[in-house]
Amino acid sequence: MYLTRSTFPKLLYDTLRNAGFDLEVWDNKGHGMWDRAAAPPRDVLRDAASRCDALVVTIGDRVDDYVLSNAKVKVIATYSVGYDHIDLDAATRRGIPVGYTPEVLVEAVADLAIGLIITLARRVIEGDRLVRSGEAYKVWGEFLGTEVWGKTLGILGLGNIGAAVARRAKAFNMNVIYWSRTRKPWIEVALGLRYVDLNELFRQSDYLVLTVALSKETYHIVNEERLRLMKNTSYLVNVARGAVVDTNALVKALKEGWIAGAALDVYEEEPIPNTHELIKLNNVILTPHIASATVETRNKMAEVTALNVINVLLKNTKPVYQAN
Ligand code: DGY
Repeated sequence: MYLTRSTFPKLLYDTLRNAGFDLEVWDNKGHGMWDRAAAPPRDVLRDAASRCDALVVTIGDRVDDYVLSNAKVKVIATYSVGYDHIDLDAATRRGIPVGYTPEVLVEAVADLAIGLIITLARRVIEGDRLVRSGEAYKVWGEFLGTEVWGKTLGILGLGNIGAAVARRAKAFNMNVIYWSRTRKPWIEVALGLRYVDLNELFRQSDYLVLTVALSKETYHIVNEERLRLMKNTSYLVNVARGAVVDTNALVKALKEGWIAGAALDVYEEEPIPNTHELIKLNNVILTPHIASATVETRNKMAEVTALNVINVLLKNTKPVYQAN
């Protein structure tokens, strides 16, 4: 079995070894596992797919028709909930099931989304910088943020993560509206949400959280035209995928004050280059793709990844969670 990173949680390697598998592991040599530079070259991956029973991959590994062109793998398991890096059609055509890790990371991602909303609203990062600068005495008592309580939260993409964000928002007395490709009346009823059309979502939200999966349909769904619909007091939070936002349009929106600020955990290019325009802006919070990054959640993701492989190779059944 081929694993594309040496820095997955230890539990993943241990579980697979205990199940009797021989592991071939690509050494990501000092690169964090979601840095594109951590991924094995495409020909290495293609060769592994042609020799091994299973590929364990993650974000940053492009598994497409070329990589699978000579494949003998019986299963591909990605250590992630997102699978936009895998060509599902190419895998399905070859009868290869693709396992992924939904559900186990829902609460961790929702926690971060709410954390970022509060961090933006109460200017926590600016406050920290101010205290360290020694200049805080000038505004001590007058450094104001804005409320979260009672405001309108928009959720773009109401999957499990979107619903978990909505549940939390209700505890903050927020008026929660959403747009999703498919309307979900049972969640509307259960959580007291209101469905609005996409442009209305941009118009009405005080905080707009992106929890939508990246696909051809959602690529740059947050574009210049829609950003211009937002209130100049509103905030955007992205815990989904960088490419659901047109980054150039967002930079413009932040510079020209179409919105008040943004918090981004994901980027069109990861890691974001330190020369990037976003890095120069003070009204944006930038975190390094940490939404699922808790010890507990990452271990659960490791467990599910291992079970996805074990189910196919040892139990002759489907992955616990199958994407295709
Ligand atoms: C994923 O797993 O796809 C998310 O980006 C974070 O865990």
